[in-house]
Amino acid sequence: MGDHKIERPDLGGPFPENIAIIMDGNGRWAQKRKLRRVLGHREGIASVREITTECASMGVTSLTLYAFSVENWKRPSPEVRFLMKLLTEFMVEERPTLMENDVQLRCIGRLDDLPADALRELRETEELTRGNGGMRLRLALSYGSRTELGDAVRRMCTDAVSGGLDPESIDEDSIRAYLYDPETPDPDLLIRTAGEMRISNFLLWQISYSELFVSDVCWPEFRRKELMEAIACYARRVRKFGGLVSDVPPDRSTERTA
Ligand code: IPE
Ligand code: IPE
Ligand code: MG
Repeated sequence: MGDHKIERPDLGGPFPENIAIIMDGNGRWAQKRKLRRVLGHREGIASVREITTECASMGVTSLTLYAFSVENWKRPSPEVRFLMKLLTEFMVEERPTLMENDVQLRCIGRLDDLPADALRELRETEELTRGNGGMRLRLALSYGSRTELGDAVRRMCTDAVSGGLDPESIDEDSIRAYLYDPETPDPDLLIRTAGEMRISNFLLWQISYSELFVSDVCWPEFRRKELMEAIACYARRVRKFGGLVSDVPPDRSTERTA
């Protein structure tokens, strides 16, 4: 366990305990600089390190990063191979940073799709950081929300047939129990970089009531300053979960974003 200090900024409103990020725009970042797309992915690692460390030092409970989708396997094989190599390196090289910052790593997705060496290093890093009591860093790898829901429904049906699950008892909590990682709370804040206004098959169940923040900045340039803008914007949001909030100050009751 590290001896890092947790300092939470006071932004005059609620703090997003659970943050999820769709890390997009690595290719565009590189193309703008006349570089190969894969160099954008490499640069993106520096943002992953900075954002993870910043979130851990602010006492974020969980940070979920969308690193590779089930649909991303469609990309040209050299790009996919490069990403898998980066993932394998990340799993080894980030160990000291994760330990220093008391971060626990957990991965979600169809992990068996990953190359054997990437999976082996990933399992070892999960094991090494299992006892860390600080922030949980979740990496979504070969992740797709429809795949996750399909996997959950298949397991539920198997349990129902074998008598282990009573179909009459199925409710939101029992559905959640079949998702990849039922223990981590739903994101309070979902950030997407590089300006696209879409979800791209990410955590469809879990983001039902998340606050959304889209940054125009490409992921390799998304750093502390941009993160603080997103958190400050969240602090001004009013979450109602379908109800009414009688104690919302009148000047904030109609506010939507920045
Ligand atoms: C995000 O950057 C990283 C992954 C999806 C793996 P992109 O590679 O999607 O970058 P753009 O969207 O093409 O700019
Ligand atoms: C979403 O980005 C997936 C990840 C960030 C890992 P994409 O670049 O794959 O999404 P689309 O294709 O623009 O929707
Ligand atoms: Mg993209």
